[in-house]
Amino acid sequence: MKRRIIAGNWKSNTTWTEAKQLVEELSRMTTGQDINTRVVIAPPTPYLAAIRSGLPPMIALAAQNCSANDTGAFTGEYTAGMLASVGVKYVIVGHSERRAMYNETDEVVAQKVRQVLDAGLYAILCVGESLEERESGRHFDVVKTQIEAAFTAQIGKEEANHVVVAYEPVWAIGTGKTASDEQAQEMHAHIRSLLDEAYGEVASDISILYGGSVKPGNAAGIFQGEDVDGGLIGGASLKAEDFMAIIEANSEWTTAS
Ligand code: 13P
Repeated sequence: MKRRIIAGNWKSNTTWTEAKQLVEELSRMTTGQDINTRVVIAPPTPYLAAIRSGLPPMIALAAQNCSANDTGAFTGEYTAGMLASVGVKYVIVGHSERRAMYNETDEVVAQKVRQVLDAGLYAILCVGESLEERESGRHFDVVKTQIEAAFTAQIGKEEANHVVVAYEPVWAIGTGKTASDEQAQEMHAHIRSLLDEAYGEVASDISILYGGSVKPGNAAGIFQGEDVDGGLIGGASLKAEDFMAIIEANSEWTTAS
């Protein structure tokens, strides 16, 4: 069964003091709640091990990145295995900020997905087109290439549900300009059909999240899409109340469906 998931990508934000406070607020707000959604947070890497020790079981920990390599002489890198050893469960891979600013190619993203799965973790694989690619009508092809390179061409059926896909149109990230409910569902259905071609019925076990300017006010509409299984949240995950409202919007939809 695919899971409904809300994941918060904190990016390079928060001091250690702010991070502890945010985790405390989220722990308080989620404890004892009947939340029908997997809640995941991805704080900055230096905080992961310390945050893990105080985290309630209903919140899972994610890293925002990992090395494309295993252990060895790779100064400054940290492996998926190291993340696993401190209690991380998910790793965000191929975020458009990393693709654009750190030259992560589809090949590098594919290596990272492999590392994450080899470490026994779940990959949150980000895909999405730029504004120019959408305006020139190439968005479905761009996403297809990204999905094939890092996912369907290298990951077998037996491991396929260890990958969560996050569709994040680049033009919607941090811009306040979200995809319409229809645009989100349309791309999610396209991704589901690619997964279906590769894996058959296993495709319905794979969660597909939407990311890009999700806020409490637009979350419920986006999450209604049949193939939208939750969200990857940036800015709004830094405010406990907003993040909680988005979790509730996703959770309520589950209960209603
Ligand atoms: P925003 O929600 O701030 O647009 O960021 C989305 C994102 O990039 C999550 O990974």
